[in-house]
Amino acid sequence: MDRRQFTGSVAGAFVGAVVSRSPIAPFTASSMRHGGLDANRLNANIKALSAFGANPQGGVSRVAYSDFDRAGRAYVTDLMRAAGLDARVDFAGNIFGRRAGTDAALKPIVFGSHVDSVPDGGNFDGTVGSLSAIEVAQSLAEGRVRTRHPIEVVVWANEEGGLYGSRSVSGQLKAPELDNRTWSGTTVAEGMTFLGGAPSRIDEVRRQHGDIAAYIELHIEQGGTLERDAINIGVVEGIVGIRRWDVTVTGMQNHAGTTPMDQRHDAMLAAARFVDMVNRVVRAEPGRQVGTVGRLEAFPGAPNVIPGRVVCTLELRDVDASKTQRIFDAIAGEAKHVGEANGTTFDFKASHEDAPALSDPAIRAIIDDAAKELKLTTRHMPSGAGHDAQAMAQLGPMGMIFVPSIGGISHSPKEFSTASDIERGARVLMGAVLRADTLA
Ligand code: GLV
Ligand code: MN
Ligand code: MN
Repeated sequence: MDRRQFTGSVAGAFVGAVVSRSPIAPFTASSMRHGGLDANRLNANIKALSAFGANPQGGVSRVAYSDFDRAGRAYVTDLMRAAGLDARVDFAGNIFGRRAGTDAALKPIVFGSHVDSVPDGGNFDGTVGSLSAIEVAQSLAEGRVRTRHPIEVVVWANEEGGLYGSRSVSGQLKAPELDNRTWSGTTVAEGMTFLGGAPSRIDEVRRQHGDIAAYIELHIEQGGTLERDAINIGVVEGIVGIRRWDVTVTGMQNHAGTTPMDQRHDAMLAAARFVDMVNRVVRAEPGRQVGTVGRLEAFPGAPNVIPGRVVCTLELRDVDASKTQRIFDAIAGEAKHVGEANGTTFDFKASHEDAPALSDPAIRAIIDDAAKELKLTTRHMPSGAGHDAQAMAQLGPMGMIFVPSIGGISHSPKEFSTASDIERGARVLMGAVLRADTLA
């Protein structure tokens, strides 16, 4: 059976179930032979992975470089090997599972996602794409389908902390970032080592533009638009750029009982005005840009002391980097005035940057085509969340497939996507990988 027949048989086997949105019938031995996905296996694997770092609220706390992260990764590595992939951990801690193609001259088609979570996260962010990628590889192996290109299933390290694994591969990680503290309490360098990497050799994981034939990532939408409008599949047009700053507000620490209200240089008051101002400035122009102050700490932090210093974060996101810069400039300008009003100063230190990335028109078309063949409805849309795909866009054509997030909730234990929606997404991933294999 060649790839085209395979694609057709995969589509043909599932059209009825997908259109009706009714429960999907179990796969028969015959459809497995034809390479059909085993959606029951996929959803069982997602459930099994959710045991690693399960939190009492029903989600997971599997932050990168933690014991739970390492144990979850061992579980997915076993699944990769069972799927016939040659799995190894690179120096940045990424897990790559490779299967050779029939044409040694071709570059790999890379697909996957991440299995680390935010603190108190959910069971679907990253997990859906990682385990669907493994399921695609397993089904290809079981269907004895050989691709022309090598396939590489990837589980990226520390996506949630700031795309540390994928930015190592794209060459965007800067050496000082290896010293950054992570949610697990370790530095990035220590964390990479803990996962079996070797940060001193990080340069060796770097790939160049043209080293991959394509990168495709399936992910949950993390917003609520697909569910609200009953659309099966989101075809991502572009991924927002993310910039973060550590903001220090400096005032004067003084006695909270004896210092009159008009003689205070209260860093907390300036920070409060800053938070409000950020919201106003970000909303002042049309568009989907967002800005957040997500963490704020006052020093010394006592009820009877006027805070002399506040440290907070500022994060801005948009697909247009020049717009983000313009908004940051406006915020920094206004912060000066906020400070002048009560004798405080603002200092901004850039801490993180993910460049925005557009998906590749050819990969978008492939995803559209794969979804159409399965009679699924699609919508082209931007991604407001960051993804490893934006780092991979530096290396070759990139595309992303979204499936609905119920209620648009994500980065929360309440995050949920239905088994049927996950199955649809995985089938589109299968179709997209097989179509990408027909490209040069
Ligand atoms: C990653 O999930 C992000 O968008 O912060
Ligand atoms: Mn994610
Ligand atoms: Mn996330």
